[in-house]
Amino acid sequence: MADEPALSAGIAFAPAEASAVVARRRVIGWGGAGVVLGATAGGSAVAAVRSDNGTRTAAAAGEAVAFHGTHQAGIVTPVQDRLHFAAFDITTDDRDEIVRLLKDWTAAARLMAEGRPVGEGAVGGLAEAPPDDTGEALGLQPSRLTLTVGFGPGLFSRLGLSRPEALVDLPKFPGDALDTRRSGGDLCVQACADDPQVAVHAIRNLARIGFGKVAVRWSQLGFGKTSSTTPEAQTPRNLMGFKDGTHNVAGSDRAAQSKHVWVAQKDGPAWMAGGSYLVARRIRMHIETWDRTSLKEQEDVFGRTKGEGAPIGRKRERDTPDFRAMKADAHVRLAHPDNSGATILRRGYSFTDGTDGLGRLEAGLFFLAYQRDVRSGFISLQKQLAKHDALNEYIQHVGSAVFAVPPGVSGSDDWWGRTLFETAEGA
Ligand code: HEM
Repeated sequence: MADEPALSAGIAFAPAEASAVVARRRVIGWGGAGVVLGATAGGSAVAAVRSDNGTRTAAAAGEAVAFHGTHQAGIVTPVQDRLHFAAFDITTDDRDEIVRLLKDWTAAARLMAEGRPVGEGAVGGLAEAPPDDTGEALGLQPSRLTLTVGFGPGLFSRLGLSRPEALVDLPKFPGDALDTRRSGGDLCVQACADDPQVAVHAIRNLARIGFGKVAVRWSQLGFGKTSSTTPEAQTPRNLMGFKDGTHNVAGSDRAAQSKHVWVAQKDGPAWMAGGSYLVARRIRMHIETWDRTSLKEQEDVFGRTKGEGAPIGRKRERDTPDFRAMKADAHVRLAHPDNSGATILRRGYSFTDGTDGLGRLEAGLFFLAYQRDVRSGFISLQKQLAKHDALNEYIQHVGSAVFAVPPGVSGSDDWWGRTLFETAEGA
């Protein structure tokens, strides 16, 4: 660790330098990959995807998702295949150091989202110093990498800032078996990409930049998205074998997003306008028990068929549910907004972290949900589910965290959290 000061000193994150560093796609191009050169034709190293009104639209696999926008990328962005999520503890009480960190993180994230290495790159700096970038993403495409940052309750208390009212501590729900080593966090970064190495590279480099100011508290790798914000695409399946994400807030549904996902100016605090609140829950599945359960029981638990994903009593996946045809404790019946009164945007991933020592798969769903207010969103829903959901026999919530996700970064001189730290509320 003695080399860390030299490392930080060597990192140059000024946006102007972005053009001087080598885009990963160009690196491939130099290697002779004509297909990639074709993709960069027109002089742009990066196909950042953005519509006229400034919101992001779908990017093809491998492409870059625009980093700048009213909202952070990685929320309504079409869900990528892989996740690396990290929660950090803040290890300094110096507000200025955290501001510096957020500026450095933003500059690095901007580069990585474009498929570029951070700072002077993995090989471009002084031979006598550790490289600014760790290098394992050289030659890889941007892979629709999105980096989404969130502020946990501890950030506010530690830095003496007032905490948004909607960022409440979650109550203890019946059945919770939360592991404190996999819960909480003062800051979080959600990295999603179609290539796992790109997501891991991003978290690793942000953690490295944060040395001395933040330390990773816990992290979670995820695969096989268990949700969808693109109803027109095939719905993915979770590890229980069911289509997951059928009825979710769609990336194209602006009205639903304004109503249920984005914090409005009038909600307060002003710095959160355009942001959202994130609830992360590590939910373990008792896979072995589930696998010994009859198909009929499995379908009754969810209230949907396993093959088509249709609501019980209906034929097609997108048919309107008939709740009377479902069991009273069916997951979908309880969770549907008509019955729960709550709408959240789900963006979870499956995980398998080996076995638990008793030969059982340490597997489940890393549940990520974005909402305008945690009280009327996750808490309201989970109160019902924790008490009545038939699924509870097969799952257990073992990790939990909640974060205020600030609005997007508007341009090259903006940074994550500026609206908080540069306003009266953050002063
Ligand atoms: C391991 C845990 C879980 C599994 C395996 C799971 C699985 C599913 C599946 C298969 C569906 C039906 C397809 C769909 O519409 O997406 C569904 C729907 C849903 N789930 Fe879960 N879920 C889990 C936990 C949760 C939790 C903790 C919440 C919220 C507190 C939640 C909220 C919802 C909602 C809101 C819907 C949509 C219901 C509707 O509008 O029809 N789920 N879930």
